[in-house]
Amino acid sequence: MKINELKISYKVRCHSELSPEEQALLQAATEAAHKAYAPYSKFRVGAAVLLGNGEILSGCNQENAAFPSGLCAERVTVFYANAKYPDVAVDTLLITVLDENDNYRGEPVPPCGACRQVLSETETRQGKPMRILLVGKSKVYEFSSVSDLLPFIFSGNELL
Ligand code: THU
Repeated sequence: MKINELKISYKVRCHSELSPEEQALLQAATEAAHKAYAPYSKFRVGAAVLLGNGEILSGCNQENAAFPSGLCAERVTVFYANAKYPDVAVDTLLITVLDENDNYRGEPVPPCGACRQVLSETETRQGKPMRILLVGKSKVYEFSSVSDLLPFIFSGNELL
């Protein structure tokens, strides 16, 4: 028997270390989180992407009384970006969550598994890494690639 080990790494930063560009991304995600449609969970998620053309797009979670019909903020945002600019890469995706007092939620919140699957295929499709920033109350986690969040992806190569 052989045991393989995978090593992933991520940076732990703080708000004051965000560059002006990253702050703009955080502002866009925060404004989006305020617009979340989350009457059932009250969990308001905002996401923003910095595209290869310099544009910032944002989105938030959209819930539905038929629960599985809703969609997470990350997929709303990345699908929007891919629909608007199919040939432009998503350089950075920033995700944040607001608490009931409109403050950033304590710990940075990582994307769910289904979102990671979508982010991973977007990264493969664009042929360059997508940087992920998860912003909590005081800490910011930075992953340099989706593959650090989801190693061992089902890539779809098996279908070809
Ligand atoms: N949600 C997101 O928007 N992103 C995630 O990565 C995790 C969960 C949303 C979905 C649902 O509207 C609410 O948060 C509670 O799960």
